[in-house]
Amino acid sequence: MGYGLWAEKKRSPPPLLTTHNPQPLEFRLPGGGEVPHGRGMDELLTPRLRLRRWRQTDLEPFAAMNAAPAVMEYFPSRLDLEETRLMIGRIEAQFERHGFGLWAAEAPGVADFVGYVGLSVPAYETAFTPCVEVGWRLASQYWGKGYATEGARAALDYGFGTLGLKEIVSFTVPANQRSRAVMERLGMTRDPSEDFDHPRLPGGDPLRRHVLYRLAAPTDITKGTESAAT
Ligand SMILES: CC(C)(COP(=O)(O)OP(=O)(O)OC[C@H]1O[C@@H](n2cnc3c(N)ncnc32)[C@H](O)[C@@H]1OP(=O)(O)O)[C@@H](O)C(=O)NCCC(=O)NCCS
Repeated sequence: MGYGLWAEKKRSPPPLLTTHNPQPLEFRLPGGGEVPHGRGMDELLTPRLRLRRWRQTDLEPFAAMNAAPAVMEYFPSRLDLEETRLMIGRIEAQFERHGFGLWAAEAPGVADFVGYVGLSVPAYETAFTPCVEVGWRLASQYWGKGYATEGARAALDYGFGTLGLKEIVSFTVPANQRSRAVMERLGMTRDPSEDFDHPRLPGGDPLRRHVLYRLAAPTDITKGTESAAT
């Protein structure tokens, strides 16, 4: 769960795509290599989704999602319009920095914006960072259609196939069964001994405990790409 992107406090009104002090990141990944930098893929296509960079017109529907109790059930609080604007700015900062990020998800012929699916780099330290995380958040009217899993498969293919990552992780609170089900459909696995307390949440917070899922790159992709960017 991307509290690194979530947890920005409200500040003076920023323009949509302004970045706010992305923390200097440690780029070395477990197993060697670095988080890739620079220009990457602005758009990924799946049979039903276009995963793309963010547009001004996404702000309003994204803010509506971020204010919805069902969508934000497992987050510490809901986000208002300005907090949503900041979050988009931080997401776009990751695209500029790494060439990948949490893509805005469009379902052509259905809706211009259904939520996000993509890859992010947590900006805090835990036992498993630095790492690349796969994540998703959809407006509730688009749940139950397979969009999160479909989009995440494209993001994983991109992460393993194009970026050459050796591993991608995901995490959430134990009670978030829908998100865990996405992780499990993707073939991600959890070792209970790796459950952790989220460093961005204070002791005693009921959402602090998290489960960690990992997925290694398919061997047919990693074979012969030992020197890839990782
Ligand atoms: C997490 C979240 C994205 C999962 O959404 P979801 O709709 O359950 O997951 P998917 O999009 O992969 O859809 C899978 C469901 O669609 C169904 N489905 C329907 N048509 C389908 C199709 N054509 N292809 C695949 N699955 C389909 C599946 O059977 C499955 O149904 P089930 O929930 O009854 O088992 C969503 O609950 C959400 O946005 N939650 C709030 C934000 C959040 O918590 N994010 C994660 C933080 S870690």
